[in-house]
Amino acid sequence: MTRTVYVNGEYLPETEAKVSIFDRGFLMADAVYEVTSVIGGKLIDFAGHTARLERSLSELEMGSPVTMDELLAIHRELIAKNNIDEGGVYLQITRGAGSDRDFVWPDPEEVPGGIVLFTFAKPLLNSKTMDEGIKVISVEDLRWGRRDIKTTQLLYPSFAKMQAKRAGCSDAWLVEDGFVTEGYANNAYIVKDGTIITRQLSSDILHGITRAAILRFAEEAQIKVEERPFTIAEAQEADEAFVTSATGFSQPVIEIDGAMIADGKPGPIAKRLREIYVEEMLKTAI
Ligand code: PDD
Repeated sequence: MTRTVYVNGEYLPETEAKVSIFDRGFLMADAVYEVTSVIGGKLIDFAGHTARLERSLSELEMGSPVTMDELLAIHRELIAKNNIDEGGVYLQITRGAGSDRDFVWPDPEEVPGGIVLFTFAKPLLNSKTMDEGIKVISVEDLRWGRRDIKTTQLLYPSFAKMQAKRAGCSDAWLVEDGFVTEGYANNAYIVKDGTIITRQLSSDILHGITRAAILRFAEEAQIKVEERPFTIAEAQEADEAFVTSATGFSQPVIEIDGAMIADGKPGPIAKRLREIYVEEMLKTAI
């Protein structure tokens, strides 16, 4: 079955979908995105993702070519057309195609933004990485300073991921001024003496939608949370480490820069939070 994608108002087979070479998303990474997971054909935390999307758009003074209600309808239509049970939806909004190439932003009244969505099928509930845990290396965080905006400037995270892959690891944790900011595409946590420690929100990290839910569920489960920066050395001495993201939920980290975390087995808190997360999020899935 050929996948159907959505491009600038049209549902098309992926092989027929086209965008302009002048689109600023292509020329300048002048674009924002969201990835929403799907379980049982339903969207997980759609309200959280649209709220962050609206914030990203507003921080970059970018308009949206569709309303958030239309966006929900498009997500649902694509899930149905592609028969997605488990997986996700990728959404990207760009500043559109202005004049050939200009560092000045075009007037949003004159140049409509571009919009692209596609679905992907991926097993989320039964995850090998949840059972086995992941290995991480640390890499200097050389991204720009507005990491709270979810832009498509992903060259550095991709570079970090390649370094991890070459080191036989699946993930990279990014370190700035001696402290972990976040994972290359997820938020990073450690657990010490029953307390979850994760960096506080600021423009240094992406405000993870999964992070917000996981911290809420942790507090409801009477697990203490401390929002502060931590170092790689502290993480290596922790009782547990894990990462969160929309498609990974919470995934245990078992090794950092070659040092085993505790006994090198996935920790209980990441597992428990994952179970609570899935159970609770399914209640509000749409
Ligand atoms: N990544 N931090 C970074 C740098 C991210 O790219 C992501 C998400 C997160 C977690 O955010 P959330 O819980 O809202 O998914 C944190 C997505 C999934 C990606 O780029 O594929």
